[in-house]
Amino acid sequence: MSVTIALANQKGGVGKTTSTIEIASILTKLEKKVLAIDLDQQCNLTKNAEADKSLPTIYDLFSDDDPDINAAIQKVPAGYDLIAGSSSMSKADKEFEDIDDAYLLADLIDALSDDYDYILIDNAPARNRLLNMSYIAADYFIMCADSGEDSLDGIDAIVTDMMKYHKPGKRKLADSKIMGVIITRFRQTNIGNTVLDIINEKVENDIPDEIKTEKIPFVMSVRETAAVDEAKMMHQPVQTYKKSSTAAIDYRNIVDEIISRIEE
Ligand SMILES: Nc1ncnc2c1ncn2[C@@H]1O[C@H](COP(=O)(O)OP(=O)(O)OP(=O)(O)O)[C@@H](O)[C@H]1O
Ligand SMILES: [Mg+2]
Repeated sequence: MSVTIALANQKGGVGKTTSTIEIASILTKLEKKVLAIDLDQQCNLTKNAEADKSLPTIYDLFSDDDPDINAAIQKVPAGYDLIAGSSSMSKADKEFEDIDDAYLLADLIDALSDDYDYILIDNAPARNRLLNMSYIAADYFIMCADSGEDSLDGIDAIVTDMMKYHKPGKRKLADSKIMGVIITRFRQTNIGNTVLDIINEKVENDIPDEIKTEKIPFVMSVRETAAVDEAKMMHQPVQTYKKSSTAAIDYRNIVDEIISRIEE
């Protein structure tokens, strides 16, 4: 049985895709079987992982009544499997509006659950139907945040929406829990440390028990490192591009924490 982790924040540019790529590649290096799903219409994960864009996408799988899931799964150069995103996902709110459509992602993941150790979902910077699908499909959420106020609001929005989805649904209760917060592009400045304090306090006091793991969600930072953008230009995880960089080290610590919470 796989464990599904969604990376999310409605705020854009807070490191969701970077975190998905790094966590996926580190888990792969640790010989875990990993699938990443690009749910974002921007398709940054798909592009960065150098996926084949001619294969069926997540949009095709959601649109097809009898989808060939295996045809949409491809191994990317970093070694993990990926289901590509699609710009057509901009239509998702209109096209997947039936009550049952909320389970499209959960059903897809159920069908693949035996094939993977970890399934990672890279969400769009939006509070939309696709994010709602993630609440139902994921076991855990990891929220990404930078030092901006908007990304703190984004954490509150996830807490609010997750509670909404915890009410009994038509088919099953969404039981995803918040596992942690990654503060990305972290700088050891007054602002950086203040945000760290605010998020720690939020995590301890503002997340209802129903959507919290037994352990208090982790708050871990990834230092701002030029190598992250350089690696992006080379279409490589920073883990491969410069594994001694601070960001690469921080992501390895985060993956250790994730594994310890899931496998122990
Ligand atoms: N630790 C880091 N150090 C330096 N730059 C970083 C770091 N983490 C992320 N970045 C940069 O920040 C930018 C935004 O990151 P990313 O695309 O992962 O965010 P996102 O939340 O997925 O964005 P979107 O909401 O648009 O999907 C990218 O240019 C990325 O290279
Ligand atoms: Mg992204």
